[in-house]
Amino acid sequence: MKILVTGGAGYVGSIVAEGLLKDGCDVLVLDNLQQGHRGAVPEGAEFVSADICDPASLEDVFRRHKFDAVMHMAAETAVEFSITDPWRYFQNNVVGGLNLLEAMRKHQVHKLVFSSSAAVYGEPESTPIVEEHPKAPINAYGETKLMFERILGWYRKAYGLKYISLRYFNAAGASKLLGENHRPETHLIPNILKATLIQPPIPNPQPQGPETRDSGFVSIFGTDYPTKDGTAIRDYIHVVDIARAHILALEKLEDLSGRAYNLGNGEGYSVLEVIETAKKVTGIDIPVKVGARRLGDPAVLVASSNLAKTELSWKPQLPELGGIIESAWIWMREHPDGYQS
Ligand code: UFG
Repeated sequence: MKILVTGGAGYVGSIVAEGLLKDGCDVLVLDNLQQGHRGAVPEGAEFVSADICDPASLEDVFRRHKFDAVMHMAAETAVEFSITDPWRYFQNNVVGGLNLLEAMRKHQVHKLVFSSSAAVYGEPESTPIVEEHPKAPINAYGETKLMFERILGWYRKAYGLKYISLRYFNAAGASKLLGENHRPETHLIPNILKATLIQPPIPNPQPQGPETRDSGFVSIFGTDYPTKDGTAIRDYIHVVDIARAHILALEKLEDLSGRAYNLGNGEGYSVLEVIETAKKVTGIDIPVKVGARRLGDPAVLVASSNLAKTELSWKPQLPELGGIIESAWIWMREHPDGYQS
């Protein structure tokens, strides 16, 4: 099988590509390298530098290669920036996605696994969140993911597209070779670990310095949420488990087309609990600084993934938060400057 992985030089995409290669697939990674890194493209994958917002370059790729299926991960992903610059999100995540669907239709590629998000639910009315929960995104990022899920539904009805949407909760951790390296880094676990890297390896909090995310502090965005300790709660899921779900979805696409599945561990951790766990894993004290809430952040996101377990036969292999953080920590110590660009 030959699989196109859009966004395959990014965090989740590269680890999905790695999983597909291990599974014996031929993989072509398409990425514009705006967020992705050439060094993240796993060995054995072909690479094309192209942009889903450019229909001509997509046409060129589809003319040269015959794909059996597409894993679509190319997207703008930072929740906060989607509030301040929604155009970029609608352009890349909706218009770019439509360009991809049109290239697939023209070249008769009928199978797609879509990288969706817990952000489609907005602020949940009840947790753990099941797939039927009302969809009411509170940020433009979630809106674009929901719009694209709906577009896929219409393509299925009209053109016979076979697709599955996977709604990731908080992807975290690393594989042996590939990890998380966003620029700028906005995510909690890599920010904690980056701050940790410049602390002394004994419990010894440092005097306070300037407030930047690379300065040796981790910022806590909001302590006034209606949660047990006032900080936001998320469901952290190992990126390798997410990658595995893509392969299972691909295998079951014929039977389960049109379905959406949550991918989480069903266990919520507050920002403070994540920091505490990271301290235990690294053995290093991490100075924190309390800041205001970040734009577009819901208070709580915790998944029910029973549907993925039953229908995809998916079972997270690395569900413990400590183990997830440890894998990220190992990768970050081996790649303190991330990928070389
Ligand atoms: N946070 C901090 N300090 C930081 C970074 C984050 O306190 O330095 C907080 C955030 O405010 C949030 C929590 O930690 O409450 C998790 O934040 P992340 O940035 O790690 O992840 P998000 O929950 O914002 O977003 C992630 C993905 C989205 C996806 C979402 C679904 O980036 O693509 O999970 O849960 F939609």
